Amino acid sequence: MTLTGATPHGEVHEPNEFGYKSFSLGEFHFSRDEYFAYVRWPTGHHVMSADAFLRALQRDVAWEFFYGIVNFDGVVGTVNHYGTVDLFAGRYNDAYRRAELDHVENIETPVIKATFAAILSDWTNEGFDPFASPEETGSAFGPKNGDNDAAITRHRVTAQRMVSLPGDEPLRNDDNGHPVNRMFADVDQDEPEVYAEPGFEAEVGSFNLFAYLSRSPVTWNPSVVSVCRESLYCPTTEEYILPIIHGNDRAEWFVQLSDEITWDVEDRDTGRKRAKVVMKAGDVAAMPSDIRHQGYSPKRSMLLVWENASLKIPQLISSGQFPTQPVDF
Ligand code: PHB
Ligand code: FE
Repeated sequence: MTLTGATPHGEVHEPNEFGYKSFSLGEFHFSRDEYFAYVRWPTGHHVMSADAFLRALQRDVAWEFFYGIVNFDGVVGTVNHYGTVDLFAGRYNDAYRRAELDHVENIETPVIKATFAAILSDWTNEGFDPFASPEETGSAFGPKNGDNDAAITRHRVTAQRMVSLPGDEPLRNDDNGHPVNRMFADVDQDEPEVYAEPGFEAEVGSFNLFAYLSRSPVTWNPSVVSVCRESLYCPTTEEYILPIIHGNDRAEWFVQLSDEITWDVEDRDTGRKRAKVVMKAGDVAAMPSDIRHQGYSPKRSMLLVWENASLKIPQLISSGQFPTQPVDF
């Protein structure tokens, strides 16, 4: 494995014959044509479909490299060290490791974030929204055609207080531009009635989470709706395939709120298959901290992702002070 020393800087190169710029980060090089994204490093090269690449890249940028590992597929991805990021090829792939073809560069977070954001902006064509389900967006393919910066720079709305309390964002509704998604037409839109003691009107709140989620225009994008110290409730709506294979650095809990998702669960470091988990509405699963997973949702579904955001957890797990699974039955 090669591990470079100094933090590399991103470089941008002139557009190719298809109109797309190429980019370098240290010894990694990224380019695209009409159908594919190409990644090169000193000991190898890799190709991915442009739409899958952009869907993964969109999440890595928007989530600030997320918890642990974001695998774009079985070969390339990033590891978040919360301040710096490893950009890797083959690092979590047993065959690449054995053949010593893997490559890792450790990069300051703002540097890799700026380059990734520039790739995402240049390679995303008008009409393609990497956060949308495939049925609800245009094509990622073809020669360069405009951009979709409005979609790719959208921010998740982070709750300042519990959703529904004064001072937080207004609840989504038809009037403020958040229609119910086509697949959630049957979701009850009634809001709960709250009768607070006089003087407590600003502190007691309640809202219909199903109605709220039924209006989400994006897929596979957990959003914080409540914070209790380091415990984050991050519900999300899912359709088609989670565009990344997430390698955990902590356990996370899934509560399947509606419909059904199938999860492929693999060993985090080698990609060896570990389990297939079919979650139906009402099912709860704890994903251990030594796995990676990718979900498949044939119909748009609602999932609650429950995370503990503590910065201490990865170290407690890697030093063996915390178990990899959060519960023993
Ligand atoms: C996860 O990796 O746990 C994850 C990511 C995005 C989602 C759901 C789950 O939408
Ligand atoms: Fe995960």
